[in-house]
Amino acid sequence: MMDLRVELTKNPKEKPQGNLGFGKYFTDHMFVMDYSPENGWYNAAIVPFGPIEVSPACMCLHYGQEVFEGMKAYRNSEGGVQLFRPEENFKRLNVSNDRMCIPKFDEAFLLDALMKLVEIDQEWVPREEGASLYIRPFIIGTEPSLGAHSSTHFKFLIIMSPSGAYYETGLAPVKIYVETKYVRAVTGGTGFAKTAGNYAASMKAQDVAAEEGYSQVLWLDGVERKYVEEVGAMNVFFKLGDEIVTPALDGSILSGITRKSVVDILKSWGMNVQERMLSIDELVQAYKDGKLEEAWGTGTAAVISPIGELKYGDLVMEINQNQIGPISQKLYDTLTGIQWGKIEDTFGWVKKVD
Ligand code: PLP
Ligand code: COI
Repeated sequence: MMDLRVELTKNPKEKPQGNLGFGKYFTDHMFVMDYSPENGWYNAAIVPFGPIEVSPACMCLHYGQEVFEGMKAYRNSEGGVQLFRPEENFKRLNVSNDRMCIPKFDEAFLLDALMKLVEIDQEWVPREEGASLYIRPFIIGTEPSLGAHSSTHFKFLIIMSPSGAYYETGLAPVKIYVETKYVRAVTGGTGFAKTAGNYAASMKAQDVAAEEGYSQVLWLDGVERKYVEEVGAMNVFFKLGDEIVTPALDGSILSGITRKSVVDILKSWGMNVQERMLSIDELVQAYKDGKLEEAWGTGTAAVISPIGELKYGDLVMEINQNQIGPISQKLYDTLTGIQWGKIEDTFGWVKKVD
């Protein structure tokens, strides 16, 4: 296996106090690794967090050849630190790499390197209720070239940020705007990959929705604008009578690790959960019939985020009187219970850092 060089900082930073916000502060160290055609992935190191040098012609800055991940380290009830399904994030990063013409990396090596990085910066894992250390692995194309082709050189980094809730409202239900004008992704495009361009393409719709007081948008499929896909930073679930539905992975939706975990938890409770196509018309009909009982988003940053209101054209659908519903609450308690080590992890999802 490749060597991992470690260079510790001589100037540890003050840790932030009080409200952390999301992704605003960074720990003392980061992981870096380079790729060249001659060496493959090489030069893996943990170094002090700080600026990196790239050419202004570096390809990710011009053509967006980039992939990223989002995961968290949690402070468990014994005071230790643990990760939630980190191997799934590295697996998905390689899936994104394949789509974005970025060379694959050794997932086992990266997992070891991440564990080491978290161990070194473990004092940065917050102790406050609900806060955690958000981890952002990412890869950028670094070849200095204005030709629009795949980069020959890349840089892999992992940075980490002690963070609080993604939405300022915490567990209070969010308002979501059903987007009918703009689209995020289409089949055959890059929707299933976690790549910068998907998020850049989303910002206009998000800004418009924010002006109307909505937290994020619910995307419809890019071809017919008919089927429900996902929200800006989370997958979605709807409780329609006795059935819980989440849109099937159709190539334009991100295959969320929280989504997958929630499906498994619901199944373990014997609930009828279906991954299938769900049209916005079916959702509206269910609402009119009084069957749209609960809705929530799932994501690493957002955890379980109840949806209290959906706006589709002129129709404002209030869900569960804008209150968190029993299934959303139970899912939140179970998932965060496993992540923070407060309840037994019967699924084998937690990886302790020691
Ligand atoms: N969908 C999008 C577009 C996202 O950015 C995220 C966040 O990572 C998710 C869904 C949820 O995925 P996960 O549960 O793996 O964090
Ligand atoms: C995550 O949940 O990890 C995400 O990537 C959402 C992000 C856009 C903040």
